[in-house]
Parts: sequence; structure tokens; C-alpha cells
Amino acid sequence: MTSLIADPVTAAKRRLQSTAAAFAARYPSPVRELAHPPAGSGLRPVMGNYGFPVLGHILSTLVEPLDFARERYEKFGPVSWAGGVGFRVVQAIGPEALETVWINRDKAFSSTRGWAPVIGPFFHRGIMLLDFEEHRDHRRIMQQAFTRSALDGYLDLMRPGIVRTVTGWPSAHGFPFYTAVKELLLDQAAEVFVGAVLGPEADQLAADFHDTVCGGQAMIRADVPGGIWARGLRARERLECYFAEQIPARRAGGGTDLFSMMCHSRSDDGERFTDADIVNHMIFLLMAAHDTSAIAISMLAYELGRNLGWQSALREEALASPDDELTLADLDGAFPLLDAAFKEILRMYAPAGTLFRQTVTDTEVAGHFVPRKTQVAINVYASMRLADWWPDPDRFDPGRFLGGADAAPVHRYAFAPFGGGVHKCLGQQFADMNVKVVLHQLLRHFEWRVPPGYRPLLSWGTGPTPADGLPVTLRRRAHR
Ligand code: HEM
Repeated sequence: MTSLIADPVTAAKRRLQSTAAAFAARYPSPVRELAHPPAGSGLRPVMGNYGFPVLGHILSTLVEPLDFARERYEKFGPVSWAGGVGFRVVQAIGPEALETVWINRDKAFSSTRGWAPVIGPFFHRGIMLLDFEEHRDHRRIMQQAFTRSALDGYLDLMRPGIVRTVTGWPSAHGFPFYTAVKELLLDQAAEVFVGAVLGPEADQLAADFHDTVCGGQAMIRADVPGGIWARGLRARERLECYFAEQIPARRAGGGTDLFSMMCHSRSDDGERFTDADIVNHMIFLLMAAHDTSAIAISMLAYELGRNLGWQSALREEALASPDDELTLADLDGAFPLLDAAFKEILRMYAPAGTLFRQTVTDTEVAGHFVPRKTQVAINVYASMRLADWWPDPDRFDPGRFLGGADAAPVHRYAFAPFGGGVHKCLGQQFADMNVKVVLHQLLRHFEWRVPPGYRPLLSWGTGPTPADGLPVTLRRRAHR
């Protein structure tokens, strides 16, 4: 694939990584069983190989995660194992394997243990990192902050900022779209999630939040002074203080921001969060919402910037709506093309691309024996790019979701960008309204394109993330 990378340093770094990955991939690592299935179980062993000494397959999973996952799927089927810096990780890919892990019938898969080695120090005790009964109890309280009336309140808070920021973007060549969307969402997080007015306090919050997220994604995972990990840990400590100090006032006040709602939420049985729970959940929620939405908005702009026919069709749909100020009711079914395009982006660029679990007992996935204490990576990203389930899977075609021949996925979990089972995303409707309100503004006020042949350089955050800032040519429309 051609990749016109604007930034020469990023381009050089990527070339180096690709060369190293190609070199490591050629290492003759023998295929072995992960563990021998118990006699008489009728189960097959999980097959795979460690890869390059120590590093395992880590470079391939970072540089070409999609190609790597699809090759493993071709070779070993929906369940395989690979080495990665001292670990052996089982990959679950394809709707049937995903369903087994998500539905978790025999409670064999722990989210706490699966996520801990990945983001534990930065997002510990966030709801996604809780298990079983405790998770259920927390979720019952938290879902009160995601009711329709709560979402209406968030939309009222987020709309002015989105209109102000998006309409303020300039006509420009090489406008760094992803960078601009990240900024927009950080400001929005301060206003909608935290209820902080923009200014130095919100800037500090945004910086601390950014450093916390980067800490979780650091390659060198140790508290080395000056390192990304260390900076992330210090930023998390500041966020903890910030939220903890504000809780009494929020509990007493009547704010409609997410932080205030979390302070007031009660389950049907009257249970509410402790102060420590609120702090942990708020820090997690900022992360859960931010990168995922930024990826979805940016990749949607990218695909519409190279599929100009779809861009025009979506613009016509946006201009047919009476005004800029969408409400939640307006979003219900009034924008079928935008809805289909958003779904297609979630299918192609799953913003939460890999999820983790660890087995706490011997179990089975798609007829394969998975022993206790196995780290399992649920590959949502590659699963929705399998030709077995999606014809021509790398082609952007919102028509798939418009009631045509293949509109209805053949398996319940063939399209599952928000996960499944008890940990299924709580913010799905929040994300839906956020992405649509931003795109609505963009479509009404701008036309944009990307250079012919341009492919964004994707790195790995929560999912496939534009690492080159995603330069687009943005032109303000003369009339709305
Ligand atoms: C396009 C945007 C988004 C995508 C694709 C997405 C995807 C996901 C996925 C796949 C999970 C399951 C994780 C697992 O099983 O381990 C998840 C969990 C979660 N997401 Fe989202 N998410 C998005 C946006 C948001 C937003 C905006 C919020 C909050 C405002 C949010 C809040 C959560 C929460 C709280 C959980 C944990 C639920 C639990 O463990 O019970 N997400 N998300």
C-alpha cells in the first residue's frame, strides 16, 4: 500500500520498524502446542509459535497487526498462540471465538487479570477492569449515568463546543485532522465529563489525561525517571487528587456533567459509588471515550476524503436537516447514510481493536483447549476484516449497512465494535451522538479530500490510530 507520510521523521521510524519486523518474521520458530488437551476431552490443542527470541511477534503485531492476524487465522484458525516479550498470548479471532470469550459462560475469563498487565497501573479499578459480581454491582450504578435523559444533558453541554471548534477550523492544505479532533475531544472531555470551564484548569486536566493514556501505551514499561511510563503515573496521581478534591462539591451540586452524574448515580437498590470508586471510574471513562471517538471521527473523515461520492451523499443528507443544532431525537434514524458510514468505519477500524482477558480456569474456545492462566487477546479489529464474514473486507462500503444483500451480518458477533457480554460498551450511544454531531458540522461547513494514493500511517493505541496527524485538504463551503 502506498503511504505518503508527511513527516519525514515518522516515515523513517516506520521504515525502520517495518524492516525490523520483516527480519524478525523470517526467524524459523517451530510450531508447537500451547498445552496438550486433557485425555478424552475431545478438544484440539491451540497451535502457534513464539517467534523471534524474547521479542516474539511483537514487532509484527505493532507494525502490521491486520496482516499478521489474518495470516495466523489462515494458518491456525480462530484460536492460535504467539510469543510477545516473555508472554505467550492466545489470539481469539472471528465471531464464534469472540462470542465464547465475551459470553464467558463458565466464568473462565477474567478482565481484571487480562487488562492488568496492559493498562493496570493507569486504569486500575476502572469498571472494565472489574470482574464478575463486583463488576455487575458497579455497572448497575454506572448505567444510571448513561440513561437517555443523562445523554440529552451531555449533548446540551457538548454541542456549543463542537460548533465553535469545528466551524473555527481554517481552509487549509495538510490540515492535521486527527490532531485537531484530539484537541476538540480533550476540550469536550473537560466540559462534558468533568464540568470544568475551559482555561488553565482544563488545560492541565487535558495534559494530565493525555500523559496518563500515553503511559498505558508506553513501550518501556517501567517507572524510569523522565520516561513516558513515569510521566503517566505522576499524571494519574494528579488526576486522582483533582477528582477527589471535587467530589464533596459535586455530591452537593446539581451539575449535568458526567462527573456530577457519577457522584449522584444510585442503583435500583440505592447503592452508590464510594469516593475512591468515582475517582477510578472517571479516569477510566476519560480514556474509554477519548481515543476511541477520535479514531472513529478521523477515520470517517479519511474514508470520506477519498470516497467523494459518499461525502457528497452524506452532505446532502446533512443539509436536508433544518438546522445545525441536532438533538438526540433528531439522531434517531434521521441520518441513515451517516449511520451506515459510521458503522462501516467501526467495522474497518475498530477503535477498541484488541481486548484482553486471562483464564482463571482451564476452558475451551472454538473446540480448542485453553489452560488456566492464559492471556487471551480478543482481536476485534481483524475479526471484522475477515473475508469469511465480510466480502471484500478492506473496501469502504457503507452500503453494507443500508439494507442491501449483506446488510444483516450472518453471525450475531460478526459486527461487534462495542464488544459483547457483560462488559459491552456502556458509552455506545454517547459515542454515536458525539461522532454524528461532529460529522454533521463538518459536512455542512466544509468539503475535504486526501491526496490520491494517500494512506494514513496507522500506529497502535486502543485501536488503529493515525500516527501522521492525518493531513487533509479542508475547504470551507461558501453556503450552507
Ligand atoms: C467509537 C467509540 C467506542 C468504541 C468502539 C468502544 C468500544 C468498547 C469496547 C469494545 C468495550 C468492551 C471492552 C471489553 O470487553 O474488555 C468497551 C467498554 C466500555 N466502554 Fe466503550 N467504546 C467507545 C466509546 C465509549 C465512550 C464514548 C464511553 C463513555 C462515555 C465508553 C465507555 C465504556 C465503558 C464504561 C466500558 C466498560 C464497560 C464494562 O466493563 O462494563 N466507550 N467499549
